[in-house]
Amino acid sequence: MPEPATAQSLIDLNALLDNPVFAGGFGLASLGAAVAFGRKGVLIAAGMIRRRMLVGVEISREDPAYPWILAWLSQPRPQETFLAKRLTRINKLSVSTSTITTPNGPTRADFLLQPGYGSHIIKHKNAYISVSRQKQTTAKMATGEPHETIELTTLYAHRHIFEDVFTEARAIAMQANQGKTAVYSVRSFEWVPLGEPKRKRPLGSVVLDEGVKEGIVADVRDFLTRQNWYDERGIPYRRGYLLYGPPGSGKSSFIQALAGELDYSVSMVNLSEMGVTDDKLAFLLTKLPKRTILLLEDVDAAFVNRRARSADGYNGATVTFSGLLNALDGLSAGEERIAFLTTNHIELLDPALIRPGRVDMMVRVGEATRYQAAQMWDRFYGDVDQDSSGRERFLARLQQLGLFDEEAKDGSAPPRTSTAAIQGLFLFNKNDMEGAINMAEGLIPPKVEQDQ
Ligand SMILES: Nc1ncnc2c1ncn2[C@@H]1O[C@H](COP(=O)(O)OP(=O)(O)OP(=O)(O)O)[C@@H](O)[C@H]1O
Ligand SMILES: [Mg+2]
Repeated sequence: MPEPATAQSLIDLNALLDNPVFAGGFGLASLGAAVAFGRKGVLIAAGMIRRRMLVGVEISREDPAYPWILAWLSQPRPQETFLAKRLTRINKLSVSTSTITTPNGPTRADFLLQPGYGSHIIKHKNAYISVSRQKQTTAKMATGEPHETIELTTLYAHRHIFEDVFTEARAIAMQANQGKTAVYSVRSFEWVPLGEPKRKRPLGSVVLDEGVKEGIVADVRDFLTRQNWYDERGIPYRRGYLLYGPPGSGKSSFIQALAGELDYSVSMVNLSEMGVTDDKLAFLLTKLPKRTILLLEDVDAAFVNRRARSADGYNGATVTFSGLLNALDGLSAGEERIAFLTTNHIELLDPALIRPGRVDMMVRVGEATRYQAAQMWDRFYGDVDQDSSGRERFLARLQQLGLFDEEAKDGSAPPRTSTAAIQGLFLFNKNDMEGAINMAEGLIPPKVEQDQ
């Protein structure tokens, strides 16, 4: 009978332990195991403490609250106590720069220091909050930008502080945007803010022909009160406007000012831009920001079937007519939508565009009329031209130049000027109304040889 295996193994084990080389190795290994075990224990314990005693909230970069929280974090918070001072010192900052172009003024750059990536501790009221700002290793498909999160953690006992934090952060964001109009444009398949929100443009600063502005504003305001009316009739709650006319007549400016007046943002796509395809347009229209005016610039681009290839082989705009219609009729039914379409070439558009919900109202925004010239004069020189005699001489001069004629003497088309050109003339002669009158001839556009 063989000896029991256990006794044999015991002897072997003793012999092995007598071997100093093996014993050393074994000792190290068990030490390692103990450390690993210990560390695991600590981790588990930390995890338990975390779960029981801490609460966290994670904000992803995609969330609208992300920039608010960043702005809130950048607020200076002087700490009184020695401990708070040491604990909350942030050693890593990142900078966020925004440039602001003031109308008729220089561009100003503002710097905002924010907590950088990594972990920081801040003290808010009586709670310590750990802030961890992380860039993830995964990236957004559309833009290739890495995902980013901020995680705020505090003691369970202080969990209510988060409500406070978010309320404050939102208030800061609201205040920063007060009196401003945000403009979104398209990057890849997303609406992204086009720079910082701009100061609201007063409606009064856009001078359209008599009654035109008032007509559109009244229509939009009326539309905004009628959601129920649309819902009851099962009609998608949408309204479309087409503004057409020559360049520099104030179409885009008016839409910007209207958005400001209604406290809406503007979401802008230029259809003549490269890379705007049917699919993309349809997709973007289903995920418009809230409270926004959709602005489709240069819609005639969708009606030009064959455009000359540019030197680099690109075809330019790629939106088709049916693509535009599909996008306008798209799936986001039930959602409020106000769309403004603009074009310089009404003659290229297809009548199918003029359907309820696509385009309900068409407005020509044309060359400067006498009414507009007078209004613009008053806006620029009203305070120095108290008796309006300067304005009358200016208007008489434009009349003499034939700018308001129905028809030129020889039966041809009379010269016309744009409101943009008048604005340019006035800006050039900022404090000098005589200069503006003397230079009025410059408003007549140079004759271009028409080749068709
Ligand atoms: N009717 C107007 N009232 C006030 N400013 C105007 C008016 N028309 C043009 N301007 C000024 O001229 C510039 C160009 O105007 P805007 O971009 O609004 O023209 P537009 O009609 O959109 O031209 P385009 O067809 O080329 O897009 C702006 O600086 C704007 O302030
Ligand atoms: Mg424009």
